[in-house]
Amino acid sequence: MIRKAVLPVAGLGTRMLPVTKVVPKELLNIIDRPTIEYVVDEVLASGIDTLIFIISQGKEDILNYFNVDLGLKTFLKERKKWDLLKKVEEVEEKVKNIISVIQKIPEGLGQAVLMAEKTIGNEPFAVLLGDDLVDAKEPCLKQMMQVYLKYEGCIIAVEEVPLEDISKYGIIEGERLEERIIKIKRVIEKPSPQEAPSNLAIIGRYIFQPVIFEFLKKIEKSVGGEYQLTDAIQLLIKEGYEVYGYLFEGKRLDTGNKKGFFKTILHYAKKDEELKEVLKEFYQEFYQVNVFS
Ligand code: UTP
Repeated sequence: MIRKAVLPVAGLGTRMLPVTKVVPKELLNIIDRPTIEYVVDEVLASGIDTLIFIISQGKEDILNYFNVDLGLKTFLKERKKWDLLKKVEEVEEKVKNIISVIQKIPEGLGQAVLMAEKTIGNEPFAVLLGDDLVDAKEPCLKQMMQVYLKYEGCIIAVEEVPLEDISKYGIIEGERLEERIIKIKRVIEKPSPQEAPSNLAIIGRYIFQPVIFEFLKKIEKSVGGEYQLTDAIQLLIKEGYEVYGYLFEGKRLDTGNKKGFFKTILHYAKKDEELKEVLKEFYQEFYQVNVFS
């Protein structure tokens, strides 16, 4: 059923400037791995092995990260650094099928997804944003694929957000069908808290049927002067296609801004035995608080 995943990583990452002048935000590291690797791991753990990266000029290192580096491997072998060699090889062996498509000028997520049309062809596919992580027992995308089996429409991951954050997201309006499933009647991009129909925000995981491309071709630039994916989803709903929101199980981490990025590092540090000790020491030293006891 779903065999391909599109990973749009062509954006400018302006909220993380100045570092994103030279390092793509999807390569900023959460401990010792780039953000994008967590997303790739989710795709692979969901049983999908074809990844379509939408990249832009200057962000080629995202692909290089998964490529074979013979020079580095020889260097590590000569110095008998077997544990490091293993780490490097693990990354290189992860992805078997990578396709890359260039988005010449990043003018919005809607345009980025449209770039995948030829490579996707006529089959349903997943879209995962390169700066949105979900730490979950069962991969978020895998959960969504199960929902797709039952509902066979467009499936969008959603989560409840606090009132003050509503204007940062696409917000949905709909009717609850099951505890975690909402039939969506309307989506609205970055509304004010007053005009928002709910506090359910769209996060960076989608399953689409290929008909979405028809609507992506019809949208015009809107909020932020960009081609918004939510505008195409709204057209899809208007034309009678079924769109469902899925309240996934797991913790979503937004690495696309300073605060979210830092929280993500803390989240994964807390899960690492060695780094957990560092956190403990930090709290003890600076706040005289004994954490994790
Ligand atoms: P964002 O809107 O969070 O990314 O898009 P951005 O535009 O790079 O960030 P800011 O707002 O300037 O800080 C979510 C994902 O979609 C990709 C981004 O690379 C990111 O992974 N994207 C966004 C594209 O591939 N193309 C675009 O035109 C816009």
